Amino acid sequence: MHEEEQMQSLHEIFDPSMPRLGPGEDASTVKALDVARATPFLKKALLRKGGARVLDLGCGNGAQTIQLAKRIDGTILAVDVYQPYLDEMFRRAEAEGVAGKITPCLSDMAALEAEEGAFDLVWSEGALFCMGFRKALAACHRWLAPGGVMAVTELCWFNPEPPAECRQFFTEMCPEMMDVSGTLSAFLENGYKHLDHFLLPESAWRDKYIAPLEKRLSLLRQNATGTAEKLGMLDLIQKEIDIYRRYHEHYGYAFYVMQR
Ligand SMILES: C[S@@+](CC[C@H](N)C(=O)[O-])C[C@H]1O[C@@H](n2cnc3c(N)ncnc32)[C@H](O)[C@@H]1O
Repeated sequence: MHEEEQMQSLHEIFDPSMPRLGPGEDASTVKALDVARATPFLKKALLRKGGARVLDLGCGNGAQTIQLAKRIDGTILAVDVYQPYLDEMFRRAEAEGVAGKITPCLSDMAALEAEEGAFDLVWSEGALFCMGFRKALAACHRWLAPGGVMAVTELCWFNPEPPAECRQFFTEMCPEMMDVSGTLSAFLENGYKHLDHFLLPESAWRDKYIAPLEKRLSLLRQNATGTAEKLGMLDLIQKEIDIYRRYHEHYGYAFYVMQR
């Protein structure tokens, strides 16, 4: 399947109306934000005129953007490469009364033209891999003001020796995937200081990601008029869910809260 067709199929599955576009949950966003807010740097930035300057990379339809906007005095530059996600994020933000704090930005995060030190807080849930994790760590370090905080979720091995089927699936899907200690080392090598990290609970996969996604997959299968490639994409996403069900103790997302 050509890349464009592949993206079309993915966008049909991950429709903007989905609750969220990757594993995550409000409680984990708030927990990471509490760690960030406890730093003297961010406390000071939040009190500044205009508040803190926040960058949300790969914001999608805004699950975390809106939680941040509700809890932060400041401005959020919400970046995504797909306009329908930005539109839905902004519609949801308006409905929650926080759109005034958010500037949607249609851009490839790798091509973002931000000045050095332009942000006090850089956030990204389940999206940094789109840029390449290590490349993203270096770019975000530049975009953060000295003392600024970065909070990201990243897919990681919990067990350095996972079962072969699971390892093979992710070797193809996410060749950069590391274990938690390897991921922490990558942050340190890129000049970050560790503030906190924690694993996302199973509920962060189950409730707002897997449950609605399975419903969506079966709806699309019922109405399937697509090509073999489109059906192949439905199978692939279903396989991702099945792999999670079978092997979730071996991998998952971790939240990393780091400081420049
Ligand atoms: C797995 S989704 C996560 C979305 C959201 N953070 C969430 O947790 O629901 C990844 C997001 O990154 C966006 N994305 C993919 N490649 C991108 C790129 N190169 N630059 C900016 N955004 C990108 C996708 O459009 C999608 O919204």
